[in-house]
Amino acid sequence: MLIQQFFEPISSTYTYLLFCSASRHAALIDPVISQTDVYIEAIKTQQLELKYILETHLHADHITGASELRSITGAQLCIHQNSHVTCADVLIQDNDILHLGQHQIYILHTPGHTNACVCFYIHGAVFTGDALLINGCGRTDFQQGCAANLYDSVHNKLFTLPEETVVYPAHDYHGLKASTIGLEKKNNIRLGQGKTKAEFITIMQQLNLPYPKLIDQALPANQQCGRIEV
Ligand SMILES: [Fe+2]
Repeated sequence: MLIQQFFEPISSTYTYLLFCSASRHAALIDPVISQTDVYIEAIKTQQLELKYILETHLHADHITGASELRSITGAQLCIHQNSHVTCADVLIQDNDILHLGQHQIYILHTPGHTNACVCFYIHGAVFTGDALLINGCGRTDFQQGCAANLYDSVHNKLFTLPEETVVYPAHDYHGLKASTIGLEKKNNIRLGQGKTKAEFITIMQQLNLPYPKLIDQALPANQQCGRIEV
């Protein structure tokens, strides 16, 4: 599987284009609506057929490009069933497997940042959304977030993957592009370094984060798969 990483600077979002070099079948993880032309150009240049648009969760910080990309490419839009959106093509669940040419994409339900978060695991890499960031994690105070659940998700489903598995997060705010499971277990200041669940819950309770800037625009739009009313 080949991987191309894109960065959207306003929300510091990473989007990933995965494709099978033999079949040219592709999947796009967490597209941002303002970058649609960039993704379409990459798909055309590399002569890919977009099969899936995958959301790690219902985003609160940017509007998804899912609906627009689906109408251009005919790809199937996949999001976890707990998101309760009615505009998806596939409501995915824990342990589901999507096939991309010769490759498999394994769905890991990892609630905690939201109750509809999933990670996408392929051989050698995992796309962690906001469940696990490089030396951090997503907040747990909105969208049915729960610090205890996030701790369990990360420790039981992500930290049990092979240590060399590359971690591709949905965001980074310091210019870092990837990590590994081994590095996050060792270094992650919130979830690694042997932190207990109680310590993690305390850390998350004491973050005192401001109200998310774009949540009131992004969530309603993303519940419509990124269709914006005009
Ligand atoms: Fe998020």
